[in-house]
Amino acid sequence: MDKKMKGIILAGGKGTRLSPLTKVTSKQLLPVYDKPMIFYPLETMLRAGIKDVLIIIAPDNAGQFLHLLGSGREFGEGIKFSYEIQEHPGGLPEAFIIGANFIGDDNVTLILGDNIFADDLAKDIASFESGGRIFCKKVPDPERSGVAVFDADNKVTQIVEKPKEWISDYAIVGAYVYDNRVIEIARGLQPSARNELEIVDLHKAYLAKGELDVRFLEGEWFDAGTFNSLLEVNNFMAARVKK
Ligand code: G1P
Repeated sequence: MDKKMKGIILAGGKGTRLSPLTKVTSKQLLPVYDKPMIFYPLETMLRAGIKDVLIIIAPDNAGQFLHLLGSGREFGEGIKFSYEIQEHPGGLPEAFIIGANFIGDDNVTLILGDNIFADDLAKDIASFESGGRIFCKKVPDPERSGVAVFDADNKVTQIVEKPKEWISDYAIVGAYVYDNRVIEIARGLQPSARNELEIVDLHKAYLAKGELDVRFLEGEWFDAGTFNSLLEVNNFMAARVKK
């Protein structure tokens, strides 16, 4: 039997780079033009046909997420939201450890709660069979992201988290599709120098198996975690709605 695709939106963290905006609410609940930020990654997920979505949140503002998003029923037929708390921000791969019961035996798509995509990822998620699939986008500021280096055949040769020295223009954006083995791989990771589990170490684990594939984004992509990128995505969405 084909495995189902589950979805996780990671909306934990303290949003310290957006303080004082994030003193009384979560980053992922801040407005992006006419919607709370989390609606965008959630819509990307739902558009891909994923109906079972786990939302991982920090303890402080958990009630606000429940109030805003509820059971999922209002978002469409058969849609179900579950919630888990991330007590301390320990890195993105924790999503698969916290979400292990929710994932069960299925595959999983993780989208970060502050990542906003103009592209539709539906086909690339629906066509996934096994291994790991990451999405890359050419950007002017790769030092802000996980970065992938490619050879002449577009095969990944190297992956580095926020490289200080330039190695490539291709950011690895915050949407990831993995098969069920990701739970065990995440459980086996060691924290990095900044004392967090690193999502790039999951990509590297699949790369080492020869099972990592990459899709390239054409449209705009925003990681709305800083004042400038938050303003930029607000302006982008305002212009798009007015059109
Ligand atoms: C995280 C990941 C990074 C990824 C980025 C996408 O960084 O660590 O690999 O490229 O999300 O938004 P953060 O923005 O949480 O520092």
